[in-house]
Amino acid sequence: MEGDFLDTVLRFYKEQKWKEVLDLSLVESAVTRKLVWVWPSENNLLLIKHIIRDFRLSGVISIGCGSGLFEWLLEKYSGFPVKGYEVNESWWLSKYSTPQFIKLNFPELPPTRDILEPNYALLFCYFNDGDAFREYIRCYEGDFVFIIGPGLGAGRHTDPEPFNPNFGSPDWLLYKSQEVRDTKDFIAVYARLRTINNPHQ
Ligand SMILES: C[S@@+](CC[C@H](N)C(=O)[O-])C[C@H]1O[C@@H](n2cnc3c(N)ncnc32)[C@H](O)[C@@H]1O
Repeated sequence: MEGDFLDTVLRFYKEQKWKEVLDLSLVESAVTRKLVWVWPSENNLLLIKHIIRDFRLSGVISIGCGSGLFEWLLEKYSGFPVKGYEVNESWWLSKYSTPQFIKLNFPELPPTRDILEPNYALLFCYFNDGDAFREYIRCYEGDFVFIIGPGLGAGRHTDPEPFNPNFGSPDWLLYKSQEVRDTKDFIAVYARLRTINNPHQ
């Protein structure tokens, strides 16, 4: 089942059939999690696309993107570029790694300002290192951060959590949120206060 599932995803990916990949969301999550923690719906991707478009951003930088499957779907759906960053380059280049759907970049750590272009939104999907999250936020001079993870009572854990992140500063406000299909995972959109107070700046 797992092998068949992966083959199907890879075949659709090769043929650039992103809609067909989205429809595979019905497969049991224990199987899909090997590739990606969150299998979005079109409506979820639309939320992100609208933020990028409405605030005239250039695209999304995903930190801890893993296989990059979510990011590939987002790029195909929205037409905006999505860049992915990961750690452990040697593992991702090894024969044991999961397949990759976008080019992975490996930042110097601690991260520097030049990779976190301010006209891009940051995305943390099932990120699991609060200290590293705050390090990235400290270097980021842009205004939008997407946090995807479990809602309260989902029985899973991420750091940051979508509804209880610690940004390390009081500059950020929850702007919008949406459940990922009916999974009890949520996309939380955070905006810098200055943007919400003065949207046409
Ligand atoms: C639970 S996985 C989630 C992967 C993917 N976003 C998903 O939703 O399927 C967390 C990922 O964050 C990456 N990660 C951990 N610390 C990081 C850091 N400081 N910078 C970039 N990526 C990091 C890990 O290598 C891992 O692939």
